[in-house]
Amino acid sequence: MNINHTIIARKSCRTYNQEYLKQSDKKALEEFIEQNKRVVTGDKINLTILEKGTEEKKMKLAYGAIKGNKTYLLGATKDDPIARLNYGYLMEKVVLRATELGISSCWVGYFDHDYFSDIVLDKGSVIPGLVIIGYAAEKKTIPEKFMRYAVGASQRMPWEKLFFNYHTQVPVNRSQIDSNRDSTLHKYSESLEMLRLAPSASNTQPWRIFFDKKNDSFHFFKKPKNRIYESMGMHELDMGIAMAHFELTSLQNGLKGSWAIESAINPNHVSDELQYIISWKCDNLND
Ligand SMILES: Cc1cc2nc3c(=O)[nH]c(=O)nc-3n(C[C@H](O)[C@H](O)[C@H](O)COP(=O)(O)O)c2cc1C
Repeated sequence: MNINHTIIARKSCRTYNQEYLKQSDKKALEEFIEQNKRVVTGDKINLTILEKGTEEKKMKLAYGAIKGNKTYLLGATKDDPIARLNYGYLMEKVVLRATELGISSCWVGYFDHDYFSDIVLDKGSVIPGLVIIGYAAEKKTIPEKFMRYAVGASQRMPWEKLFFNYHTQVPVNRSQIDSNRDSTLHKYSESLEMLRLAPSASNTQPWRIFFDKKNDSFHFFKKPKNRIYESMGMHELDMGIAMAHFELTSLQNGLKGSWAIESAINPNHVSDELQYIISWKCDNLND
């Protein structure tokens, strides 16, 4: 399936029909997880599909706005920012594969960790977040509709608030790049647009991307939006999710590149409100 269609189709679902995954869907997702364990730093993360719901204890999520949830995608990683970035990146690839299979999902940052005591955590490991998966109920509940409204879930910030020229810090003007079809930015415009549609904790959209023309690179910065989310490491997950959207769209469009944390980037070059995270180095576009 075309990745753009999948990204556009994905929406957080908070009302599930209580059914477990069909065996064929579960198998397809497990196969995908098996083949996609490697993250940008070369490490591997094991994600698991966990079916629950028979035990007496029920887990309330999002103040009761999530209902009918029985199946979870989750894993354990080290308790550090890079591990969270990798976790977000990998998990979102699985979310998009689930979307292709017709499985609905919702990322969850706030949850009862005791509920998942069947996941054995090594010392220093954490479950940085999880994703509920399942099939959407026919009707959304009122709390779900309210939640979507409260966080403006269908809205995203415009290009000029998210994408900038690294050298001048001037916002990228979409109509200008569309008029220069040979430019790198034009070739990557779909990758940026698909990044813009990514989910983020409370729809905070902390991603700020700076295009560095001299080095043919896109530098990813984080703009922390909320002190609580920042302390929970939610924005690292958001950044990893954005990377997955950007990479999958680029590769589909034949735009190869690689991720690297560039020591030469001065974190304060663009603004002291932003934190440098990682860069996408474009392969030679003339090849
Ligand atoms: C890292 C992360 C954590 C999230 N945590 C929660 C959560 O705890 N509860 C919830 O209802 N939604 C949660 N969400 C879903 C976001 O609110 C949702 O992605 C955002 O509002 C955009 O809506 P959309 O996913 O429908 O495009 C989370 C999303 C992300 C990416």
